[in-house]
Amino acid sequence: MLVDVQHNPLIGLKGYRAKILHFAKATTSPKDDYCYFEDGLLVTRDGKVIFTGDYKNNINQYDKLDIQDYSGKLLLPGFIDSHMHFPQTEMLASFGEQLLDWLTDYTFPTENKFADYTYARAMADVFLRQLYRHGTTSAMVYSSVHKCAADALFEAAQKHNMLLMAGKVCMDRNCPDWLQDSPQTAQRDSAELIKTWHGKDRLHYVITPRFAPTSSEAQLAVLGELAQQYPSVFIQSHLSENHNEIAWVKSLYPKHKHYLDVYDHFGLVRQGAVFGHAIHLEKDEWQCLAERGASIAFCPTSNLFLGSGLFNLAQAEQHNIPVMLATDVGGGTSFSMLKTLGEAYKVCQLRGNQLDPMHGLYLMTQGAAVGLGLEQQIGNLNPGSDADFVILDPLFDELTELRFKHHNSPQDLIFALSILGDDRATVATYIAGKPVYQAARQHN
Ligand code: GUN
Ligand code: FE
Repeated sequence: MLVDVQHNPLIGLKGYRAKILHFAKATTSPKDDYCYFEDGLLVTRDGKVIFTGDYKNNINQYDKLDIQDYSGKLLLPGFIDSHMHFPQTEMLASFGEQLLDWLTDYTFPTENKFADYTYARAMADVFLRQLYRHGTTSAMVYSSVHKCAADALFEAAQKHNMLLMAGKVCMDRNCPDWLQDSPQTAQRDSAELIKTWHGKDRLHYVITPRFAPTSSEAQLAVLGELAQQYPSVFIQSHLSENHNEIAWVKSLYPKHKHYLDVYDHFGLVRQGAVFGHAIHLEKDEWQCLAERGASIAFCPTSNLFLGSGLFNLAQAEQHNIPVMLATDVGGGTSFSMLKTLGEAYKVCQLRGNQLDPMHGLYLMTQGAAVGLGLEQQIGNLNPGSDADFVILDPLFDELTELRFKHHNSPQDLIFALSILGDDRATVATYIAGKPVYQAARQHN
């Protein structure tokens, strides 16, 4: 039977009833500028949001709408994790070392396994499953040095129509020779990956020099040329994470003013460039990031776990540098952006600042999207945005049932979830309007 879609406006529409919370606009006061519907309605069609608002006042215009009832649960835009390492999924919680020894002892041997496409493809599925069960729907990801592992990750993400940003790591020195590329192969493989994946469906390529110590000047130069050739690709690297790392960069690049200047010299600091950590910056480095319009990924669980230091969020914001929250799996200790927010709160406490929960939520949704220039697609529930969202149950166990009995302002829900919650709170995760995760446990 033929169905006349034009004369049946309900075809393909799907509604969701829940407490709905998001940030509709870019803001410097997320504490006040959020949109909250205690009894809300989200309507989607063809993978896009078409309506977000109050349920009772708007349900009439959607007679016979197919509604998924999540009343009492919290519906948020899917989380954005702006810095993580796909091949480190299996090495979370590796004991005892700070950054440089941790890379040598654990990271490089693990990443070597990703030379095998079949292995990488299977791990890509594990990695994406972990993201989805934690409510993360978009991420900016480092793959390994091997081109085939990046192909495997993009293929896996494409299957779910996910907005994924990822890149093949480039490193041609100061790491085991069995894990090195060269300036020529880094350029060739990155260019081929850009041609294959960048702009295909919802996928984006990220030029990915691992960090200054593992790239020669020749390699940074070709990656800078590639960035110029493809202005719409993202760039990611590590910056000023650990004191020994910084001293090493100074000895390897003695002519440069500071760590960031190494990247800047090769044209790798610009809008769409995301630098992980940025903990121990000099005054000029803050200014350079601000002038170039680059962003910072704040990775609190990693910074505490590797003993790297306390990121200065207040200073970054004084400089108007976009900051996004990130797990940095596997230097980070959890795939959960909720837990990451809780640890960001503690890092700010140690610096004498309070991180408001709405501010923290902004840094993993709309604020991250704005920093990436993707706020027309992700990070919010505005009509026209992609229907990427997560349903959380704030009352997911005996303790949280007690905790929330009498306090449930949206701030309080987000704060307590950030301290007590993790994937146990996730009821379902949707990407482009389709469920990619549904909890086995019944949430009442
Ligand atoms: N610096 C260079 N590589 C890495 C990495 O894999 N993780 C972290 N946290 N820092 C790095
Ligand atoms: Fe990292």
